Parts: sequence; C-alpha cells; structure tokens
Amino acid sequence: MTQNPTTPTSTAPAAQLVHDGSRHADAWWRSAVIYQIYPRSFADHDGDGMGDLVGITSRLPYLRDLGVDAVWLSPFYASPQADAGYDVSDYRAVDPLFGRLEDAKAMVARAHELGLRVIVDLVPNHTSDEHEWFRAALAAAPGSPERERYMFRDGKGPDGSEPPNNWESVFGGRAWTRVTEPDGSPGQWYLHLFDPKQPDLNWELPEVREEFESILRFWLDLGVDGFRVDVAHGLIKEAGLPDWDAELHLLGAGLKGESTDRRPPMWDQDGVHEVYESWRRILNSYNETGDSAGDRIMCAEAWVTPVERAARYVRETEFHQAFNFDFLETHWHADKLREVIRASYAANDSVGAPTTWVLSNHDVVRHASRLGLPIDQPRPNGIGAEDPQPDTELGLRRARAATTLMLALPGGAYIYQGEELGLPDHTTMPDEVRQDPTWERSGHTEKGRDGCRVPMPWEADRPGLGFGPSEQTWLPQPESYRALAADQQAGVPGSTLELYRRMLQVRRELSMGQGSLLLEESTGDVVRMVNDAREARVQVVANLGTDPVDLPDGAQVLVASGALDGTRVPSDTAVWFTA
Ligand code: NOJ
Repeated sequence: MTQNPTTPTSTAPAAQLVHDGSRHADAWWRSAVIYQIYPRSFADHDGDGMGDLVGITSRLPYLRDLGVDAVWLSPFYASPQADAGYDVSDYRAVDPLFGRLEDAKAMVARAHELGLRVIVDLVPNHTSDEHEWFRAALAAAPGSPERERYMFRDGKGPDGSEPPNNWESVFGGRAWTRVTEPDGSPGQWYLHLFDPKQPDLNWELPEVREEFESILRFWLDLGVDGFRVDVAHGLIKEAGLPDWDAELHLLGAGLKGESTDRRPPMWDQDGVHEVYESWRRILNSYNETGDSAGDRIMCAEAWVTPVERAARYVRETEFHQAFNFDFLETHWHADKLREVIRASYAANDSVGAPTTWVLSNHDVVRHASRLGLPIDQPRPNGIGAEDPQPDTELGLRRARAATTLMLALPGGAYIYQGEELGLPDHTTMPDEVRQDPTWERSGHTEKGRDGCRVPMPWEADRPGLGFGPSEQTWLPQPESYRALAADQQAGVPGSTLELYRRMLQVRRELSMGQGSLLLEESTGDVVRMVNDAREARVQVVANLGTDPVDLPDGAQVLVASGALDGTRVPSDTAVWFTA
C-alpha cells in the first residue's frame, strides 16, 4: 500500500499523501474506535437516578452491536462527587453510587466476552480533599511529610493572608485555599488548579509516584486494558510557582485570544514526561506474550499546543495516544479542517504515533449543538435558556457530516455516549439543577458542562426515557431526547444510530482505520480525501459549502450523512464512496 505522493483520483486531482498507513504495525490501539461512557449518565440499574456499573454491563451488547472496539469509562471511584468523580478519595474502591468492586470486575469480564476492551480513567493531578492523604495533611504541621504530598505554601504578606501567587482555578476563582491549622490559627495555602475540593499533588515526591504506579498495577491486575489520563499536562509545575497573568483554561496556552511565547507555569512542563516513561514500562510489562493484541495502553488528556509539543506525549516511550483537541476545536470550515488534518498527521507521524479524532466529550458542548451555533464564534462553556440557542436541525446535519468525515480518517477515534443518537446538549436546563462546579465558581457567568452530561434516552415510552427502572434522572432530560431515544432509531434507515452503525461496520470491514490518507489541496468549501485502505480505496467528499457537489460517474455510495439529491451531495453532507 504505497502511493505516489500525488496520486490522481477522479475526485481528488491534486491529492497529497498526508498519512502513510503502511508504515505501522496493526496494533489494535492504532485504529480503535473507543466509546466514552459517562457512568453517571449511561444506564441506571438500581433506580436511584444515577447510572451505575451494573447498568453499564447490561447495555454492553448495544455497544458491541454499534461496532466499537473499546470503552473508556469516566471515573467511578470512591469520591465525594464535587467534580462528578474527578475528585477521587480512594483510587482502589468503587463509589457506592456506582456499585462495588465486584461489579467493576463483572463489567470488565462481560466486555471482554463481547470483544470490547476496557479503558479506565486515572486522575493523578489531584485527589479529593477527602482522600486520606489530604486529611492527614490537614491534621499535620506545616513542613511535615504529610503536607509534602500536596502543594502547600505559606501565604504572602506580613500575616500570610495573601495567596502564594496569582494563579486562578480552571473553574474560576483563585487556585489557592487557606487552611486552618490544627491549633485553630489561619495557616498555609494549598494549590488546586480545579475545585478547592481537588488539591493538587506534589509530583516531585517519589512517594506520590510510587503510589500511582501501584494504582496502575491494581487496575491492570483487575484486567483493564488501559487508562485515560486526566490533565496529563498538569502534574509538574514550574519551579518557584511564578505568577501567571493570563486566564487559566484547560486548553494548552491557557489564554483567551492572547498569545505568548511563554508556557504557562502550571501546564506542559518538561518534567511530566519521565512520569509517563515509567508508566509505559509498567504497561509494557503486562503484555506477557509481546503480541500487540495484549498491549495495555494509555491515552493523554493533554490540552497542549502547538501540535509539536503535544506530540512529545506520544513518543514511543510514553503515551500510546493523545486526544486530538485541535480537531475538536476546529470550526466548520473546510480550510481549517484540512489544515488540522494535515498538521495532526504530520505531528503524530513524526513520532510514530497514531492520530486520534474526537468531536465530543463530557467537558464540551456536544457537537450536534456546537455546530448549530454561528461559525467562528468561540465555543461556549455550556449553553443556558437565556443564551442564543443553537439551530437544532442544522447542528444535527453538520454533526452527522462531521462524524462522517471523522470516521473516514485513519487512526483512532473517540465517540462520546449519545452522539450516536445525535443528542444535542440540554440547552435550557434550569440553573437550579446545575451541578458542575464551574457554575458556582465562575460567579454564574459560565453555565458549565451539565448540558452534555444528561442521562441517556434508551426507550421513548418508559419513565426517564428508559435510563433506569424509576423516573429519576440526576439531571433532567430535555423533551427533545424522547424522539432520539435508541429504540426510536434502531433499525430505522437514515437514523443517526444506523448511520454510526453502518460507518463503523464499513470502517472495520475495509480496514479504514489502518489506511493511508490522501487529502486534496484546495481552498474551496469541499473537503475531498481518499482513505486508501487495504480492502478498498474509499473516497470522501464533505460539502461544507452552500451549493451541491456532483459525485463522479459510477460512484458507489457506501455511506452518506444525509439524503443525496441523485448523485449530488447537498450542503453540510458528507459521503464515502468507491469509484
Ligand atoms: C478533565 C476532566 O475531563 C474534567 O471533567 C475534570 O473536571 C478535570 N479534568 C479535572 O479533573
């Protein structure tokens, strides 16, 4: 499967080879489609309105039938749930909300039986403030080994009443909280890049590193196939914790619209890499046969720019994959999409890593809503009833086209639960029910992420749309979810669910995940590319313009994101075909 760098095709006269899929071995994680389960909202077995592990296990056959290769579960560990489980109080225990450790074992076993791999979330940047380490730190004196595990500092000013630096929390407000010492006096401050209930660990300390290596082994011994690593770019902070004057966001530069040559002192410090090198050695040691089918993997959540910096996380000795947030952040713009596709392959191929693709997750407005907003506006952090509402029909149409484009791309892909149903965000959720700490900490200026975390609609005619046996759901479902419930779409030609199933089936049958990608160089509104796969040469047209585009004579359509007008591809529609 080697191509001439400018192979002509009927629809791609000047297509450039931007990714050569023949250069890599076929390890499963290089092309896996991984489905993100958000445990709180996938399926509720016990009727308390909160999803749980038994519920997840009961719905795994649906995911097998959808055609994904693996699942990634957001945290289900013991947690006070101050940040929906990303505040872990015991990394080796299942929170009673979600079940018991036995349920986790049964879930992994059932997934394996169905041919699905299981990836769990690891949250190393911070623990919960209810973790036994943090409780011990609060009970101990400044300078004690217990405090050493976290980022405690004396405050500034004569009485230490000023925070140690000016850093702000990603969720809003300052990134430092002052503690009361055991003797009742006002004391030191601790760092929390997120909520005050999420104190940052001190990753310079060997004990912290050893603890996390042991946690990795715990879950590997239980049978999981890998880890998604939370805030992978945040573990090490710049020495001296210098002030940082820009706003702090998850996204790499931590800036809103500004640019700077300096890297934020809390993100993407070089010291993080040795942590991941040691984890990779552990993962490798769990593959006893050396056959790539036994590879255990890790995927980085690293909001790092530019792509060259992000690529450092996926060097052969570190992560297997990293989320491609540049792709997720790209507006519905043919030039920008072409550019991000090209740059993503260039960066990852330079270190021999697979490129991954993602459009939605539990932290961003779902792409069915995002793409229904005016193009070129910054992505909002949640949408409320009084905000400009997305155009639902346009959003879904574009979302289907965007996913059709995404799943044609060689590499790995992530699907966020419910996007296969075309779910939008709940964009009119009452503020009183919001649970994301962002809402409170931003002083009610940012709605936050609840809108994309709403419980799944499974059956239109059941209470709670079949989320569980009761009508309770921890967040309300919008009325629009009824018509989108899985049972309303299964087997229905043209439904979003059937589109996803078809794409995943064709992608697998034709080995498109392992293909090479040719991208047409152009400045027009149409993205044209060819996935040169082992089993076929699949041509792709995504029409982002207003005028319809003709397919070539003899085109055999494999997949279309929307109805075609004869051989014409309408606006905001994408097609896979062979010719
Ligand atoms: C990233 C997670 O995806 C997000 O949900 C969480 O709030 C932060 N990390 C903090 O753990």
